[in-house]
Amino acid sequence: MTMSKTVLVLPGDGIGPEIVAEAVKVLEALRAMAGLDVRLEFAQVGGAAIDATGSPLPEEVLARAQAADAVLLGAVGGPKWDSLETSRRPERGLLGLRKGLEAFANLRPALLYPQLADASTLKPEVVSGLDVLIVRELTGDVYFGEPRGVRTLPSGERQGYNTMVYRESEIERIARVAFELARGRKRRLCSVDKANVLETTAFWREVVTRVGRDYPDVELSHMYVDNAAMQLVRAPKQFDVIVTGNLFGDILSDQASMLTGSIGMLPSASLDARGKGLYEPIHGSAPDIAGKGVANPLATILSVAMMLRHSFARADLAERIEKAVGRVLDQGLRTADIASSGTRRVGTVEMGDAVIAAL
Ligand code: IPM
Ligand code: MG
Repeated sequence: MTMSKTVLVLPGDGIGPEIVAEAVKVLEALRAMAGLDVRLEFAQVGGAAIDATGSPLPEEVLARAQAADAVLLGAVGGPKWDSLETSRRPERGLLGLRKGLEAFANLRPALLYPQLADASTLKPEVVSGLDVLIVRELTGDVYFGEPRGVRTLPSGERQGYNTMVYRESEIERIARVAFELARGRKRRLCSVDKANVLETTAFWREVVTRVGRDYPDVELSHMYVDNAAMQLVRAPKQFDVIVTGNLFGDILSDQASMLTGSIGMLPSASLDARGKGLYEPIHGSAPDIAGKGVANPLATILSVAMMLRHSFARADLAERIEKAVGRVLDQGLRTADIASSGTRRVGTVEMGDAVIAAL
């Protein structure tokens, strides 16, 4: 008998609670139908936690996340907390969670469901068959570098500053994750940097190249981030796995999501060295549509599939969820973000119910 796994569920802000509710329904359905042995716990993070406790990530919540076997998160942030200084904002809760869980390896697959080929703003022939995996380093870079802040210069003028830093060990471990993942795919890895301008990323290139000698079976290439942004919309299918730093990965993964039709489709896994993970859709809290019941829950539901695959070694159940999502799209059901002519518009709950029926 395996011990029951604990999942800490953090709905967060905006559409977070709505989309997470559908993903929780999927976990509960698998518990009932497939004997998945999970125990769900709930807590608040981000703006919701600020309102309740004054902190975007109360110590007790981080401790529970560290004790859990996996964490499922919705999204954080919203206009209500926009006037707070950077260090007290909801986003800090998410960053603290990633750091506190040492979840340095962020896997963001951009996979186009064939049914959505015309939901993308790009031509179907450019995106059909798209299957790119972005591996984003998640606990370093300018996101966490010190010093940071806004200071007053002797001249009296104010200056904002952040620090882009990467230790060799940080680059090496994310590179190894990316090479290993490339081995399970088409064995092509593209490392993205700005080595022509930034010393930190020239160093990144040097370390990735050295690590690459241990993976002669994987074809390693390097690309500047500006070119990578261009290539992603020009000919995205040239990529198999992309590995990059925290900031570039943030930007490129939003961009890649549009190739698949909607950011509402993209899940993510953020893993520590032992494969424990934080799972979340890559999109944000979408305050403009919060509470309206129209948000797309599929990215969060697909994040549950990633949880089953990466943290619970249940690839069988992960595939079952992914197939169910495919079937629902086959049925022509679409939330507003992926709607096109000839399809049926559904809300968040109806989409979740349809996935469960298809399971
Ligand atoms: C993401 C988000 C976060 C990030 C924000 C909400 C802090 O954009 O997960 O991509 O910048 O990492
Ligand atoms: Mg982002």
